[in-house]
Amino acid sequence: MKIGIKGIVLLSIMAISACSEQKETKKSRVDDLLAEMTLEEKIGQLNQYSIGAELTGPGEKQGQAKRRYEELKNGGIGSVLNLLGAKNARETQRQVVENSRLGIPLIFSFDVVHGYKTMFPIPLGESASWDLELMEATAAVAAKEAAAAGIQWTFAPMVDISRDARWGRVMEGAGEDPYLGSAIAVARVKGFQGESLSDPATIAACAKHFAGYGFVESGKDYNNVYVGENQLMNTIVPPFKAAKDAGVATFMNAFNDIDGVPSTASTFLLRDILKGNWQYKGVVVSDWNSIGELISHGVAKDKREAAKLAITAGADIDMEGVVYIDHLKELVEAGEINEDLIDDAAKRVLQLKEDLGLLDDPYLYFDENREKETLLKKEHLDLAREAGRKSIVLLKNQDDLLPLKASNIALIGPLMKDKDSPIGNWRAAAEAGSAVSLYEGLTKALPDANFTYAEGVKLSVGPNNFFQEVEVETGDRSGFAEAINKARNAETVIVAMGETAYMSGEGRSRSEIGLPGLQLELLKEIYKVNKNIILVLMNGRPLTLAWEDENIPAIVEAWHLGSEAGHAIADVLTGKYNPAGKLPMTFPRAVGQVPIYYNHKMTGRPSSAPGQVFYTHHTDVDNSPLYPFGYGLSYSSFVYSDISVSESLLKADGEITASVTVKNTSDVDGEEVVQLYIRDLVGTITRPVKELKGFKKVMIPAGGSIEVEFTVDPEMLAYYKGDLKYGAEPGDFELFIGTNARDTQSVQFELK
Ligand code: NOJ
Repeated sequence: MKIGIKGIVLLSIMAISACSEQKETKKSRVDDLLAEMTLEEKIGQLNQYSIGAELTGPGEKQGQAKRRYEELKNGGIGSVLNLLGAKNARETQRQVVENSRLGIPLIFSFDVVHGYKTMFPIPLGESASWDLELMEATAAVAAKEAAAAGIQWTFAPMVDISRDARWGRVMEGAGEDPYLGSAIAVARVKGFQGESLSDPATIAACAKHFAGYGFVESGKDYNNVYVGENQLMNTIVPPFKAAKDAGVATFMNAFNDIDGVPSTASTFLLRDILKGNWQYKGVVVSDWNSIGELISHGVAKDKREAAKLAITAGADIDMEGVVYIDHLKELVEAGEINEDLIDDAAKRVLQLKEDLGLLDDPYLYFDENREKETLLKKEHLDLAREAGRKSIVLLKNQDDLLPLKASNIALIGPLMKDKDSPIGNWRAAAEAGSAVSLYEGLTKALPDANFTYAEGVKLSVGPNNFFQEVEVETGDRSGFAEAINKARNAETVIVAMGETAYMSGEGRSRSEIGLPGLQLELLKEIYKVNKNIILVLMNGRPLTLAWEDENIPAIVEAWHLGSEAGHAIADVLTGKYNPAGKLPMTFPRAVGQVPIYYNHKMTGRPSSAPGQVFYTHHTDVDNSPLYPFGYGLSYSSFVYSDISVSESLLKADGEITASVTVKNTSDVDGEEVVQLYIRDLVGTITRPVKELKGFKKVMIPAGGSIEVEFTVDPEMLAYYKGDLKYGAEPGDFELFIGTNARDTQSVQFELK
């Protein structure tokens, strides 16, 4: 009997009953549908194409448009990416629902990474807020806008931990720390997915890239990864596990291999850990042609073999590979793979459609009026401004140059009037050039100030877009003279420098991570004529800023802050908002220190007798970073004292309380992120010198003092000790509380 989706919807409407029964009805609807499907139709559910105007990967397959259209009508495509707008999506959905045999609707997906139309700070920047509620709220707005524009599934959050600022994609993640990264992963998943996936104001999230992508060798995108089980399980995997526990609807494979096994074909990652140990029931989507790329990796001789490896490992959907659609059927028919694998993968996709409400109403998300009303709402832009200022990190503020006191100010630099770079990479449907520039923000905030302006130097020549290499300007100094002149005649100089939007992101790895092009040269010239410089940085990664830190009195890290960037930065520079951001990633002194991160291991030779060389170090640079993880200043100043633990003995089933007093010794109210770190002094395997285990963002009034407490329990001390064994080990621990990973006080306790 042919039931088809329309018949099944009718049956389920008739079956309205008690909650538990409804659940059963839903479950059986997916099973019924699966039972109705031919092998080809099931494989169609596993096929995903980019069919929209947007393109987010190598685009050579566009020639296949006709084939794609036919497959669409025949139920040969289960989901699409990059097709935007309620109207377009409705029409495409109609083609599928009305023409295919069973009328199973498509899912529309897109990289909604830090906003859809209203842009929030790039994820690395927003992570500097250490404000989980904020990150949940911005993800919720991104979901609301995207859902109104016909999208039901975002390929975010990227939860890859990375310690290598050369890797361009650090801008998309939460930085270097597994604890902070896990907390942020949960906040973002909750924000995107809300209470219910079938609410047309929420979208399915995707934990990506599983796994190891943040550890690409030499920070070069798509490069090979060499990590052992300890690194994998204790550093890389935790945010994925946290996302899974928070109910993330989907996972994405990674492009890289790990010690010879491409993640997309890794039965260890996908079958043993994700779908085995963790019992994950959601969908695993490949990355863009990452199944086809098994051939380039050299583990499959052709697409047929690639399909076999990936479906066996547990990749459910083939994104843009055209591999499953072409080869799974023959593999089943030849008896090389069991049809159960296809059934399991297709069932996961159908269940997602069910959860999204698409089996009830394929057109649920396509309401053009809602789209018009929702995008770029005032409250969304207000949230973008709030997120922007909360993401700013004050790196240096010598002699309280900030907040601004001067009224005769020169505004200099290639990013000062730039309305595009602050939007950042992975900008979804944002309008190019739609951000508030710093120039606009400052002139609006200080209408009575006397501003002069000079660009000084260009940052790039030619196109700045998602596909092409950005060519850095290295020869044209013709704007220097004007900039130097204006700087000479001003009381204070605000210089906006850094990276354009497309100098970080996918495919944007750099071997040098200082200010690109002629910027530093210009900065040094300006410094010769006026030392009162406030350097505002806009960038997608940690930069090397040794000269800047030594010479420039005030430095503000303003990332790529999104639609309201200029207003957000002006709020901080003028003192309307007291900055409280803290770095989610270490800033090195020199690129040769990379990878550099606070939670490193000791090594056998952490130090030596004075004057000797036989210890872990570089001979030409100090071992310390320029700015450590967790670092960031405020217009307030905080003094920590009286660290203590309630008991020095922690029982295996007990808990203790660690506390510290934090005093705001300034005359301005301010927020501080109080950070808790723990070190396991002796372990079965080597342990990090300290690991973040908690944080609290607190407001402390001017002159006020508060006690901050953390509960410590044995679960916080647990780790993977090898052979996938997990648990805490009895012994001595050192507990640190402080304002960043470097400046802490400590106390010891013992786990019995
Ligand atoms: C490739 C990227 O690696 C991935 O993160 C993204 O989601 C897909 N392209 C789709 O655009």
